[in-house]
Amino acid sequence: MMMSPAMRRVVSEIDEGLVEIERQLIGDLEFTDSVADASGRYLLEAGGKRVRPMLILLAAQLGDGNTQDVYDAAKAIEITHLASLYHDDVMDHADRRRGVPSAHTVWGNSVAILTGDLLFARASQLMANLGEKAIRLQADTFERLVLGQLHETVGPENGEDEEKHYIQVLADKTGSLISTAARAGALFANAPGDVQGPLREYGEKIGVAFQLVDDVIDLSPQPEQTGKVPGTDLRQGVATLPMIYLRQSAQTDAADADLVRRIDAESGDLDTATSESFANAVGELYAHPVTERTRAEAKKWAAEAIAALDGLPDGPVREALNRFGRKLADRDK
Ligand code: FPP
Ligand code: MG
Ligand code: MG
Repeated sequence: MMMSPAMRRVVSEIDEGLVEIERQLIGDLEFTDSVADASGRYLLEAGGKRVRPMLILLAAQLGDGNTQDVYDAAKAIEITHLASLYHDDVMDHADRRRGVPSAHTVWGNSVAILTGDLLFARASQLMANLGEKAIRLQADTFERLVLGQLHETVGPENGEDEEKHYIQVLADKTGSLISTAARAGALFANAPGDVQGPLREYGEKIGVAFQLVDDVIDLSPQPEQTGKVPGTDLRQGVATLPMIYLRQSAQTDAADADLVRRIDAESGDLDTATSESFANAVGELYAHPVTERTRAEAKKWAAEAIAALDGLPDGPVREALNRFGRKLADRDK
C-alpha cells in the first residue's frame, strides 16, 4: 500500500515506540518473589497484539510523540489489560491463551488471581508517575472494566433486552480500556484538548467492534491459529451475538432450533466441555450465517468509529486510525 512520507514517519515512530515499551515492560514486571517473577511476565512473554500501546503511541503523535510519560501510560494500560486476562481465564475456565496453557493451569487459581492483582498494583504505580488525573482515569476505567465483567457474569435482568445488554457489556469490558488508551496517548503527549472527544468515541466503538470479532474467533475450530479453546464463551453459558442471533432465527427455523437445543443441553456445564457433540455444535455455529452477521455488525461499529475521526485534524494519525478500523473486522486471531 502506498504511504505518504508523513505516514511513513508516523509508522516508524510507532514501531520504535513499541520496541522501547516492550523492553521496559520486561523490567517493570520483575518481582523479587520467584513465583511472582515467573507468573508475572508469563502472559506478556507468550505474545499478544499490543493493540492498546499502538493506539496510545498513535494518538501521542497528535502531540509531543514518544515521551517517557506516553510510555508510562502505554505500559500501565497494557499491564491493566494483562491483569484482567489472568482473572478472566480463571473465571472463564479457559485453559489456553496466546497458544500456551493459561496461568491458572500452570500455577493454580490462587496464584493466577494474585498475579493479576500484582500486575494491577504495578499498573497503578506507573500511573502514579503521571499524577492525579492519570490515577483518576485508571480508576474510572477499572471500575467500568469490572462492571462489564460483572454484567456478563450475571446476564441480563428480567425484561432487559439481551442484545442491548450484550453490547453494553462489550463497551464496558473492552471499549472502556481501548477508549482510555486512545485518550491517554493524546493527554500525556499534551495534544490539543479538542481531540479528546473524537478519540474517546473512536476507542469506545472500535472496542465494541474488536470484541464482537473476538466473540466470533471464540467459536473458531482452529485453536492453533487463535491460541484459545474453541467455544469457551458458550461453555461458560455466556451468550455472545452469534448465539443471540441463532436464538432469534430458531423461532422460525427448525434446524436452528435443533442447534440451539444441542448447545443449550451442554453449555454452562464444564464437564461436557470436551465432549465431541459440543465441539461439533460449536463448529456448526461457527459455519452458520449468524457468524457473518456478527462480523457485519462489527463492521458497522468500526464504520461508526471511523466516522468519529472527522473530529481529528487531517493527517497521518487520522489516516492510520482509519486503516486500523477498516482492517479490524476481518481479523481471525
Ligand atoms: C476478555 O474477554 C476479558 C476482558 C476484556 C475483561 C475482563 C475483566 C476482568 C476480569 C475484571 C478484572 C480486571 C483486572 C484489571 C484485575 P473474553 O473472555 O470475552 O475474551 P478472551 O477470548 O480473550 O478470553
Ligand atoms: Mg475469556
Ligand atoms: Mg471472559
